[in-house]
Amino acid sequence: MSEFSKNVFSHYANVTPGHLMIGGVSAAQLATEFGTPLFVLDEADFFDRATAWKQALEQAFGDRAGTVYYAGKSFLCKEVTRWLAVVGIGLDVCTGGELAVAQATNFPMKRVQVHGNNKSESEIRTAIQAGVATLVVDSFQEIERIERIAAELNTIQRVFLRVTAGVEAHTHEFISTAHEDVKFGFSIASGAAWRAIHEVTAASHIELAGLHSHIGSQIFMSEGFEAAAAKLIALLAQYRDEFASELPELDLGGGYGIAYLPDETTLEPVGILTELAAIVRAQCAAHGLSVPKISIEPGRAIVGPTTTTLYTVGTTKDVVLEDGGIRRYLSVDGGMSDNIRPALYEAEYHAIIANRTSSAPTINTRVVGKHCESGDIVIRSIALADDAGPGDLLAIPATGAYGRSMASNYNHVPRPAVVAVIDGAARVIVRRETHEDILALDQ
Ligand code: LLP
Repeated sequence: MSEFSKNVFSHYANVTPGHLMIGGVSAAQLATEFGTPLFVLDEADFFDRATAWKQALEQAFGDRAGTVYYAGKSFLCKEVTRWLAVVGIGLDVCTGGELAVAQATNFPMKRVQVHGNNKSESEIRTAIQAGVATLVVDSFQEIERIERIAAELNTIQRVFLRVTAGVEAHTHEFISTAHEDVKFGFSIASGAAWRAIHEVTAASHIELAGLHSHIGSQIFMSEGFEAAAAKLIALLAQYRDEFASELPELDLGGGYGIAYLPDETTLEPVGILTELAAIVRAQCAAHGLSVPKISIEPGRAIVGPTTTTLYTVGTTKDVVLEDGGIRRYLSVDGGMSDNIRPALYEAEYHAIIANRTSSAPTINTRVVGKHCESGDIVIRSIALADDAGPGDLLAIPATGAYGRSMASNYNHVPRPAVVAVIDGAARVIVRRETHEDILALDQ
């Protein structure tokens, strides 16, 4: 079994049960030193996954491999941009704020791609001035804005057009992005994509480098990616027929699924990209096109499995259910402010007691947060040891993607720190917020 298809607990194997070690440091020690809730990021795991996606793209597409753009929205901080620079991959940003993080560490702008369905004029200007590789165009108004700003700056900006391929990705509605009724991209079916191609091609300060598609997130079936690739390649052929030249690049977005529960598996990069490469080659051959450079934008698949959230249990409460059964509510010291995904997408997570071994029988438990809202649920239902209680440390794996990055200050709760662990050493890469930080904004 390869590293990637193992379940989320793969890197917890071979340790004494109940004494969780991450990156060579014990969870209990991390909690004591840095407090909880805490995001603990296994740095070596991040490097392994980022490198594996880069190598898999090269292996699958050979000299047609473009760039792996890490999707910064999944989790971004200055240290992450330094790691990306070392691995030698790119960064996808979707706001001026994310771009500012890359600028703060002098991340090579030639490896930055800028997304967003409503980029402001100032975001467009900053990105062009910074010299980013690509702006991914998402609306007709934006074509006019990029043309005008690039002309003012006396430059020609390279762009991709984001198109919606009309593919139903089998994932939660809110993280599915390429069916027709969405805010993203230009629809191929309605003819909007074709009109946008004409407008961009006519603009003298814009260079159309290729097409972009992102069909959604947390996807396991290759069919969605393949169907999108086929539609995009048909559009590339239509372009060639009309303009007598070929667009050189295609970006197939991110969305590769990971395991959150012990019986799930994480998509393996070589497997999925080899399948995709076969489809891309076959479709290009069918249309008599040369194979474009293929880029991808995994976020979750790189950072998701690297991170574990540590919580301290504060209270427990047993309630009697209508069927006479008992549900234990076990409250931790974080919740929907550091992980909104269960409330937003009904996302499921697993937990283990990280500080000790228990041989107690299990009880039907709901892990909840400390927020003043009954939807503040971390895990809806899990069998946990009956003796789990105040002071115990709970570890939730696979919280690296869209946990800290979607964190809020709901109820004025400070956002947790992120600690990177490697070779038995831990260091803070994003410090814990304080009440003073929050109050500093308040006039
Ligand atoms: N590229 C584009 C254009 C995207 O919109 C996204 C994600 C990605 C790449 C990266 O997708 P990934 O490989 O991480 O699945 N907050 C949601 C996910 C929203 C994803 C939005 N776009 C969640 O927590 O599941």
